[in-house]
Amino acid sequence: LQISLAEIPLLRSRLKNEMANLDQQGGGSRYIGGSGETLIEVQQRLLKEREMKIRSALEKLRRKRHLLRSQRKHKEFPIASVLGYTNCGKTTLIKALTGDNGLQPRNQLFATLDVIVHAGQLPSHMTVLYVDTIGFLSQLPHQLIDSFSATLEDIKHSDLLVHVRDISHPETVNQKVNVLSVLKNMKIPDRLMSSMIEVHNKIDLIDNYQCPEPNTLAISALEERGLGELRKAVEAEIVNSTGKHILDLTVDLSTPQLSWLYKEATVQDVQVNADEGSAVVKVIISAAAYGRYKKVFTGP
Ligand code: GTP
Repeated sequence: LQISLAEIPLLRSRLKNEMANLDQQGGGSRYIGGSGETLIEVQQRLLKEREMKIRSALEKLRRKRHLLRSQRKHKEFPIASVLGYTNCGKTTLIKALTGDNGLQPRNQLFATLDVIVHAGQLPSHMTVLYVDTIGFLSQLPHQLIDSFSATLEDIKHSDLLVHVRDISHPETVNQKVNVLSVLKNMKIPDRLMSSMIEVHNKIDLIDNYQCPEPNTLAISALEERGLGELRKAVEAEIVNSTGKHILDLTVDLSTPQLSWLYKEATVQDVQVNADEGSAVVKVIISAAAYGRYKKVFTGP
């Protein structure tokens, strides 16, 4: 939709030129079909109607995305946005991380034209939502820049950014520079920029690839290599950025404590002590939920 909208000024100026030509031949200002409109007026009206339709569809989509975002937030699912240059392997990586076979990676530019969300499990059983974003590219025509950043606006609302690079591409360094400069222009919050995980993908195409930079991970999304390390890194950053804690809590099994924890936190492990009627529960819990837990069960 945003690309169609960006096309409209182009169509309008083309129409003007065509009409100027027609006018020279005396055709553009002729009334047509008894409508009281000239050909140029009809064309302009149709273009205006098309623009309004696209704008209203876009507005609907924006509202829907806003709603989805607030629902995700409400459920406290952490969100990791997977971004990178077009064709670097974002869709393939998300497919490998989430086991979602419905995703179809394609060797073409912009195979992903919308923001798609898939759920994946982290080592501690925490669920994370991976957002597949539109691929970046350099030398974007000027009118399209706004449209592209708008489709990327979900990135700002995530808990973590995962920057995927096609390390086998001859332009890989320039691509990284381009991605970082787009992010800078989008005014991404500092905390997201500094916690961003950089992933070097397609290492299967390079013999014995070693990451030249510290704090980067080498993977092959296609051959599912390096994914365990990546999941661990995603989890560590998410626990960090969402202010969640991993705690061992002793619960009394005669109370609703355990079911409360299942509902409000991520239960990783339960060790029951049958003699004492208690259990030690390993949970990942937000500071806010832990505050509520203490208030409800441990009193003032
Ligand atoms: P856009 O939607 O255009 O932004 O692309 P994308 O980044 O989502 O890339 P996608 O996952 O569609 O992969 C692009 C091509 O790269 C496909 O042909 C994939 O099979 C291939 N590919 C992805 N990961 C790897 C990898 O680790 N190794 C190799 N050899 N190819 C890969």
